[in-house]
Amino acid sequence: MEVLSVENLKVELEGREVLKGVNFSIEYGEKVFITGPNGAGKTTLLETVMGFIPFTGRIFYRGKPLESERDFEEVRGRIGYVFQNPDDQLFAPTVEEELAFAPLVKGLKREEVKRIVETTLREFEIEHLRGKPTYKLSGGEKRIVSVACVVTMDPEVILLDEPTTGLDRKRWNKLVEFFEETESSLIVVTHDTRLMERLGWKRFVMEDGELRGE
Ligand SMILES: Nc1ncnc2c1ncn2[C@@H]1O[C@H](COP(=O)(O)OP(=O)(O)OP(=O)(O)O)[C@@H](O)[C@H]1O
Ligand SMILES: [Mg+2]
Repeated sequence: MEVLSVENLKVELEGREVLKGVNFSIEYGEKVFITGPNGAGKTTLLETVMGFIPFTGRIFYRGKPLESERDFEEVRGRIGYVFQNPDDQLFAPTVEEELAFAPLVKGLKREEVKRIVETTLREFEIEHLRGKPTYKLSGGEKRIVSVACVVTMDPEVILLDEPTTGLDRKRWNKLVEFFEETESSLIVVTHDTRLMERLGWKRFVMEDGELRGE
């Protein structure tokens, strides 16, 4: 069963066709990579799926076409998006507050939010960062916190844009462990060949706005 799919997706930015009719789908629980050269349109594809960029063609979530801004708002509660640049994502004063944000927005009770925050801090081994302002984190710390934040939403699908950039060996292993264990569907945009080899998932290649399987 497909959870997310796009049909003939086209995006034009400043008069240039950046996505040239992309077709793609992912099943419940499926995990895939998208790789390809700089400027090929990988980030644009993820941002379009999240409803940040105007497009033509169709995007389906659980078989339902996403059309209105409201459709995308609803889907943004179920699809987690880890930005290529963590500074575009992190905004709360502290790591703890950053992690609490999505569960609070969901309307969960304080105690439940606290439980989720604690579990996530432990899962990603970032307890020591809990009180730190996010802007004072190192690059690698920001990266892992931005993944952890998305995990607190308990998303059905997670889109991750270059999630291993700047991670040391320990954090890289932690992330791989998370990728292996999560039940969420994953779309991981990456240039990290070691990661792709280690996990062995299906790969798609984006080249000049066209996506093909490998
Ligand atoms: N806001 C924008 N306005 C105009 N052009 C844009 C905009 N954002 C991206 N582009 C262009 O769209 C193309 C695809 O960019 P995109 O960021 O999707 O590439 P990418 O595959 O993610 O590359 P990278 O591997 O470097 O992250 C590039 O040529 C880029 O210059
Ligand atoms: Mg990109």
